[in-house]
Amino acid sequence: MQHGALSDVRLDTDIVSETARRRSFAVISHPDAGKSTLTEALALHAHAITEAGHINGKSGRRHTVSDWMEMEQARGISITSASLQFEYRDAVINLLDTPGHADFSEDTYRVLSAVDAAVMLIDAAKGLEAQTMKLFAVCKQRGIPLITVINKWDRPGLDPLALMDEIAERTGLNPTPLTWPVGVAGDFRGVLDRATGEYLRFTGTAGGAHIAPQEVLDDASAFAREGSAWSTAVEESELLGASGADHSQESFLAGVSTPVLFASAVRNFGVHALLDVLVDLAPSPGARAAADGTPRAIDAPFSAFVFKMQAGMDTAHRDRLAFVRVCSGLFERGMVLTLARTGRTFATKYAQQAFGRERTVIDSAYPGDVVGLVNGSDLRVGDTLYLSKHVEFPPLPTFAPEHFAVVRARDAGRYKQFRRGIDQLEAEGVVQVLRSELRGDQAPVLAAVGPMQFEVAEHRMAHDFSSPVRLERLSYTRAMTTTREWVATLDAEHGVEVLHRHDGALLALFSDIWRISAVRRAHPDVVLADPAA
Ligand code: G4P
Repeated sequence: MQHGALSDVRLDTDIVSETARRRSFAVISHPDAGKSTLTEALALHAHAITEAGHINGKSGRRHTVSDWMEMEQARGISITSASLQFEYRDAVINLLDTPGHADFSEDTYRVLSAVDAAVMLIDAAKGLEAQTMKLFAVCKQRGIPLITVINKWDRPGLDPLALMDEIAERTGLNPTPLTWPVGVAGDFRGVLDRATGEYLRFTGTAGGAHIAPQEVLDDASAFAREGSAWSTAVEESELLGASGADHSQESFLAGVSTPVLFASAVRNFGVHALLDVLVDLAPSPGARAAADGTPRAIDAPFSAFVFKMQAGMDTAHRDRLAFVRVCSGLFERGMVLTLARTGRTFATKYAQQAFGRERTVIDSAYPGDVVGLVNGSDLRVGDTLYLSKHVEFPPLPTFAPEHFAVVRARDAGRYKQFRRGIDQLEAEGVVQVLRSELRGDQAPVLAAVGPMQFEVAEHRMAHDFSSPVRLERLSYTRAMTTTREWVATLDAEHGVEVLHRHDGALLALFSDIWRISAVRRAHPDVVLADPAA
């Protein structure tokens, strides 16, 4: 598209109508609930791929450390892609990918800052698991509307009403099922569409690789076909209605209730229903609040923020992609933007979209879309880019790190490479880097949410920056932010150390929570706060 070829008025109308078509969401879950399987099923149904297994070979989903190392080339979509974009009905769907492993939950949180809704996947046999609960809490805190999918209904699982009780009691959200299973878990025949009262009957396909055909039956035909399995579903649905578990768009958008669907991702059951719910109920992108609270309207001049950096996607070119979420205005490749943090200009000649392992050039994008900017070496996660009218979006949330290690170059002669590598990993958000005068620049402290982040850092230092490192684990397990006037007091305490982070935060590290309590008792006025924003 030629820059400036369209009149401003035309552009504004385009932006508003194109943005209204966008649905940007992430699928999140405890590992193994079926996130990768569902992602493929969604793309399959939207005809973005022709056969499940296309985007992510099964081997790409393993999460063990040794696998991670071996799969530097062959990693699945959790690493190689940032988003899948496809059209479904008249909507443009952006499915943002989140890493499967809990050790990378800081990445997941950053992705959640770039979506307008999330799909929470729950394993029908396991109910709410540890990571599910954390993710529910984050979505609630950030006001992200959640659609809940009970997956693996083809296998024996919990009672559906008991599952609804568990969601209500443990998350505080009101579950409002849109569909209700016909047949107990393990005997999944189809679902009752609670809005129409119709029976959507599924039929399987070989290996679940293709779209499962669906038959629509009315109440009488459903009863004739399924007998008591149908009447039980109808009775339970009425019971739900009587207890206030019917969908309300207002409470869904306010994060008070969550629509629930039943599915079997592996058999492609219930996947169409989810796509329809995304199009019909999930919100399109709206104005985004800047750091000072001012909303940036979707038809304001272009703005976006970096939510993910990815290196080594293309081994032929050692490039880095900075993935930005468009917040306002039209993106046109070639635009020259301003980087809010430095005030410097940033050219967008090389803009790409990553789909699985394929990358294609993007010429234009609208609010809600994801653009991969090549060679964003000046960029770091959380950065804002804008055109003409200044804006800076709030910093991305950070996690409270629980693992700490001193990092040193194995070869002291390669100090330059070492420094460059550490700075780079910090900019990408691979690990947090903490520094202090005492430890010096040669031996900064890496801070991580999960120990696998260290494995990634070590691997990247050796392979991408030619500076193999030695890590020495520290015995701290807690970090709290503090203020400048408390640094000396805290440093003087046994087993406590204060370091600083690039964003200016001062982090006091403690061996455990009892040490924090002891310090608080000794200094009742001490400023110590949870570093998770
Ligand atoms: P994740 O990304 O959330 O970690 O989960 P993933 O999709 O990798 O799925 C984890 C396992 O659960 C896989 O089995 C997958 O086939 C299975 N699965 C996903 N959805 C369903 C479902 O709806 N029903 C059933 N029964 N299983 C499902 P696996 O043991 O790792 O591999 P395999 O069984 O395919 O060999």
